Amino acid sequence: MELRNLSFSSDGKKLRALDQTRLPGEVVYEEYDSCEEIVGAIKLMKVRGAPAIGIAAAMGIAVIAGKLAEECQDSRAFLEELSRQAEIIAQARPTAVNLSWAAKRMMNCAMGDTEGKPKEIAAKLKALAQKIYDEDTEICRKIAENGLTLIKDGDGILTHCNAGPLATSRYGTGLGPIILGLEKGMKFHCFVDETRPLLQGARLTAFELMNAGAEVSLACDSAAAQLMRSGAINAVFVGCDRVAANGDTANKVGTSTAAIAAKYYGVPFYVFCPSPTIDLSCKSGEDIVIEQRDEWEVAGLYFDRQIAPKGVKCVNPAFDITDGKLITAIVTEKGICLPPYEESLKNAAIRRL
Ligand code: MRU
Repeated sequence: MELRNLSFSSDGKKLRALDQTRLPGEVVYEEYDSCEEIVGAIKLMKVRGAPAIGIAAAMGIAVIAGKLAEECQDSRAFLEELSRQAEIIAQARPTAVNLSWAAKRMMNCAMGDTEGKPKEIAAKLKALAQKIYDEDTEICRKIAENGLTLIKDGDGILTHCNAGPLATSRYGTGLGPIILGLEKGMKFHCFVDETRPLLQGARLTAFELMNAGAEVSLACDSAAAQLMRSGAINAVFVGCDRVAANGDTANKVGTSTAAIAAKYYGVPFYVFCPSPTIDLSCKSGEDIVIEQRDEWEVAGLYFDRQIAPKGVKCVNPAFDITDGKLITAIVTEKGICLPPYEESLKNAAIRRL
């Protein structure tokens, strides 16, 4: 079963998104056409994963442009209001660079046509949003092909969070090589970190890998070192939300712990991302903003019930920084970047818009 997570609604006037918070139990789609709804879906992580939130921003801005163009014939007023709303969407979550990158790409396109009528600009934006979606599919396919050269039939692979099709347009990043290998008849034993506190591993990665036909063992995040020590893991595959110029990488909190254990036990640790995730304006991980989320996500059990004593103080950084020196290679659609990353990432990074 392949689930399409993002598309335009059948009348083309709304963003249609799969609500990832309801998976794997329920397949529920929602439709949005306002800035508040799109920002709400991204903040609540109904739509999540670095490339997917970038695509949602692009499609969301296109939908808002279409709606504004119905109400406003004056190009200047139209562009001013669209910029204001695009900026709010770009700031919905701070860590994944894909979100602000996609919003900026959309607004550069809109601003490049100040002579155009609002309806013409809105049509261009819709085409560009679809292009960003289609490009991501192609990019993920190439990442999968590049990544598949790093593993062999029968390998045990540990993964953290969710870097599968749900987090992108298709294929995924960190899960792409595994899914492609399975399509080619290979077999893998996938060890899936549950990924506290929001359980993207348990809910989404286990679901996607089981659907793809992998042998899956779900494990607590804290089991990673023991699994590596036992020899069950041949490689760690993760996605990421932003890569700095020196290879320091932001990904779901807990990634860095797995990377430190992998270094200690001599297990190769691979990061997968589309080139827009590389942000050369960040010299190192120190420049990456880590999203801090609500304490209740830690004190409770997936919004279901309180597990910690009422009133306990919690910290909830949603991401961590894995030092570039712990990363064996960073795989993009353009190839496999090896250390020193200051050099290799320069060739892989896209020119910032
Ligand atoms: O908070 P989330 O679920 O959006 O975090 C997502 C991750 O950390 C993923 O590993 C990352 O975005 C890679 S997506 C292919």
